[in-house]
Amino acid sequence: MRNLWLLYLVIPSVLGQTANISESLLWGAYRPNLYFGLRPQIPQSLLTGLIWFGTQDYRSISKARHACDQGDGLNGYTWTTYDARDGGVQVIKDGPNNVLITTELLKVSGGSHGGSWAARVKGEPIDPSLPSRISTIFYMGLEGFGGVDMETEENEKGITGPVVYTGNSMELDEFTIRIVDGPDNHAVTTGPHAASFVDRMGKTHVAGFRIPPGTIWQAKEHILQSIIKHASDLIQPYQTPGMTPPDPSWLLQLSDEIYSGSNLHAVQKFFDGPFQFDIFFESKSAKQKLDAGTLDEGIKGLVESFNERFDEVFPVPKTYQTSNLESLKNFSRAITSNLIGGIGYFYGTSIVDRSFAYEWDQDDETTQEETGKDGEKGAKLTEPRALLTATPSRSFFPRGFYWDEGFHLLHIGEWDNDLSLAILKDWVDLIDDDGWVAREQILGEEARSKVPAQFQTQVPTFANPPTLTMAVTAFINRLKNSEQEPSDQELGLNFGIDPDQVPMGEDFPKSATIRTRYLEDQQLAVSYLRSIYKPLKRHYDWFRRTQRGQIKQYGRKARSRTEAYRWRGRSKEHVLTSGMDDYPRGPPHAGELHLDLISWMAFFTRTMRDIADFVGETDDAAAFIEIEKAILDNIDDLHWSEENKMYCDVNVNDEDESYHVCDKGYLSLFPLLLELLPSSSPHVGHILDLLRDPQHLWSPYGIRSLSVSHPEFGQGENYWKGPIWVQMNYLTLKALYNTYAAQEGPYQQKAREIYSELRKNIIDNVHKEYERTGYVWEQYDAVTGEGRRSHPFTGWTSLLTLIISEKY
Ligand SMILES: *[C@@H]1O[C@H](CO)[C@@H](O)[C@H](O)[C@H]1NC(C)=O
Ligand SMILES: *[C@@H]1O[C@H](CO)[C@@H](O)[C@H](O)[C@H]1NC(C)=O
Repeated sequence: MRNLWLLYLVIPSVLGQTANISESLLWGAYRPNLYFGLRPQIPQSLLTGLIWFGTQDYRSISKARHACDQGDGLNGYTWTTYDARDGGVQVIKDGPNNVLITTELLKVSGGSHGGSWAARVKGEPIDPSLPSRISTIFYMGLEGFGGVDMETEENEKGITGPVVYTGNSMELDEFTIRIVDGPDNHAVTTGPHAASFVDRMGKTHVAGFRIPPGTIWQAKEHILQSIIKHASDLIQPYQTPGMTPPDPSWLLQLSDEIYSGSNLHAVQKFFDGPFQFDIFFESKSAKQKLDAGTLDEGIKGLVESFNERFDEVFPVPKTYQTSNLESLKNFSRAITSNLIGGIGYFYGTSIVDRSFAYEWDQDDETTQEETGKDGEKGAKLTEPRALLTATPSRSFFPRGFYWDEGFHLLHIGEWDNDLSLAILKDWVDLIDDDGWVAREQILGEEARSKVPAQFQTQVPTFANPPTLTMAVTAFINRLKNSEQEPSDQELGLNFGIDPDQVPMGEDFPKSATIRTRYLEDQQLAVSYLRSIYKPLKRHYDWFRRTQRGQIKQYGRKARSRTEAYRWRGRSKEHVLTSGMDDYPRGPPHAGELHLDLISWMAFFTRTMRDIADFVGETDDAAAFIEIEKAILDNIDDLHWSEENKMYCDVNVNDEDESYHVCDKGYLSLFPLLLELLPSSSPHVGHILDLLRDPQHLWSPYGIRSLSVSHPEFGQGENYWKGPIWVQMNYLTLKALYNTYAAQEGPYQQKAREIYSELRKNIIDNVHKEYERTGYVWEQYDAVTGEGRRSHPFTGWTSLLTLIISEKY
């Protein structure tokens, strides 16, 4: 089989064909920072969004919903079904406004410009005994060339019936957008002064604005200002003291004025009680008319086939004991859906400072050439870049994070292999000529508006755990598996539309194989891997060059004279670059050596060896084997403390002597977490003891980040000083499942017991907290297990789905 693979290496790149795959990924809920925002993966194009507010009083408009915000106090919101190719269903519980909103998206392939879509927005009271009065605004803004015009005749009193727009842009070509009421909507029609408003009641109100290019993301501000201005004119006659004002829904309306050449259009509706309306985006080249029936049938079919496929891809093993299987399945579907529904498309500039360095970032081996380029000083804006990426949290971290992304892609890749490759390719494209990628991707003004100024600047000597390569090995493993079994087990999704009735473009493959083309077409697979190999190697070399640590300076004894590593960019209190921000690490010093980084480097080297093997870079593969051995030797030589029976960081004291910094916590586990130790190593036994000890890391809710007996436990920011993180628990379970519980040896039995107990603890707690609070959380309390900090956090906390279905 290998020989066959090698044969393809001589065939020139066939990556051009990927255009086919990205077509089905063109549209999506790629504005995950919004409760509901659709856009295509095109730098400047059509941006849409949903705004709503309560009309039970005049104050509610100041609490209009648009961008996901923890301050909104919603009782939960999540995609319960989401597939990047087909669409999905999201449920939003807005308790303060007493409305449960459902947003549905159905992508309909066809034509030659990325297809069409239909969306439905539904609302119903959470508590039917209380009023539920809502105004919704759906907006469409166009960036770049092209235009959108309202076709429906303007009417200063508002519009009855559908509102239709036609538009065009370079990439989308010609399209229409129609916004159509459901069958049974009601508006407020009675109350003081009703007679004066009767001809505007129950109608759809619109507005068209001309706003500066690049500001569509601020649509909410433009639209609400306009509503408030309009209302403040209308309210004048009712401001006499003692007079009851008219119902807010009769005044807080768009003006029904369309400026010529408008680049932002808004469509507003008012409801009293349950409601529904649809939005149809029809790509002209698809020549297909969509209507309410498309959605009725399509969403039903989509949910059914999604659930069916979900049970195949992420089954709950029969052996798993749970009192509520149905609820666990719903939970697992929802976190996976919100992870995939949390994928965003970003485009814009970022801020980089090429000259920044802490004093201890310098050492004799790092030259000025590496830390500061040609006298370039200070923070500068870069060229705009594009990135398709999952996001850790739609409310709090709605942008790309390097070390989270490796975990996201493990999960996404199980569901949709080719989607994970599309995202990985975008990240790999960010690797610069030196081999560096910024750990946080804050692209464009909208993304920057969410980040405090002091965290916006990225520094080209700062790293982050190299997790992206996990996505590559996961792909290679899937390839190896799919060689063994033909992949027609993939279920076709045809969301209720008869495929024979839909004019499918030649170049638009049906859903059946669309997620696995790179597994089925060996030529595609190898050319993909070759296309990312060089930049990944550059990235690897950058790590080895810029994050090197010192060995001989402090009389350290180690079998390899070169393999030692140290994170650059640490401050006195934080090593943000390590990802474990405030974990105790001792004082900063140019002679420090970091255990987690050298472990990541062993892992990175091993991964590079896998890839090199696969693409036939045999010389490189041999070199990687040597380096990996040297690193593994040095992890023991430099970082094992025989006195403490644990792995530790290394630092330098005032007498210039090297010493171990041993703080029991996640750091101490790294050589086991990344499966670097042979299962017979006595060090495995010591690590398992530490991990299983309730006086240290073990809790009924998962493994704690810092020992409960550590003097700094729970202190300060308490970010990585005790709280339980799901991705670290996932790594522990993965290592146990794949290696230490799987291989015979002195610790196998213990590893097995820990595996089952830990798996149950972490599943039960995260699931329980989801039921209790409506959210999955960034981390869980080390003492009570309660969800803490950002929510929803359907980034790596969603790894629960892989833990439930034992996909490691
Ligand atoms: C898409 O795929 C079809 C067949 O799979 C191929 O004929 C066509 O050239 C491809 N289109 C592009 C743009 O690569
Ligand atoms: C699971 O989800 C379905 C569909 O959303 C819902 O009808 C059902 O009540 C849920 N079951 C549980 C136990 O949560």
